[in-house]
Amino acid sequence: MLKLVVLISGGGTNLRALLEASEDAEYPARVVAIGADREADGLALGEEFGIPAFTVPFRGAADRDRWGEELLAQVRFWEPDLVVLSGFMRIVPPVMVDALSPRMINTHPAYLPEFPGAHGVRDALAAGVTQTGASLIVVDDSVDGGPIIAQERVPVHAGDTEQTLHERIKPVERRLLVQAVIDIANGTVNLEDLDA
Ligand code: GAR
Repeated sequence: MLKLVVLISGGGTNLRALLEASEDAEYPARVVAIGADREADGLALGEEFGIPAFTVPFRGAADRDRWGEELLAQVRFWEPDLVVLSGFMRIVPPVMVDALSPRMINTHPAYLPEFPGAHGVRDALAAGVTQTGASLIVVDDSVDGGPIIAQERVPVHAGDTEQTLHERIKPVERRLLVQAVIDIANGTVNLEDLDA
């Protein structure tokens, strides 16, 4: 049984997908803690599902390194087998990458290496592409440039807004994430062997 710590900044719909999947006794992972860098709406899922939650606010931290050390300490307390960045909208500090990679993964709403960064959906729309996608990657010291675990194309429709396109991408992200955790747990995917 894989122990997951999931880090969020927003609503936590990907987190919810993992929590709901974990309600099946056969699912090979359990979320042991939820962490956030701010008062994220998704922290409420901790109460709903009875999972401990912690916040290490980025704003107000003495500096990025101190924040990173505190976040790493909070994550490590739970002794996770895998850390999932699920809409975590901060560049992960090097101290965390050094300590946790490759057992730290990130969902991204684009077909990487296309449209990395904080605005993957907006950037795809602005580029006028007819398809974008969803990706799940290993976190390394680049911005969304780590080894790809799984990805899938999603069409862009005429008249899409950032919101309508993101709503089409998110179910794909959730499916990729829930399946990838199974694949990592049973060894079908070996994070140590993936190429960047
Ligand atoms: C997801 O689409 C995730 O891929 C994206 O934020 C959303 C979070 O949704 N992350 C990034 O853009 C990271 N660069 P959620 O909070 O509802 O799971």
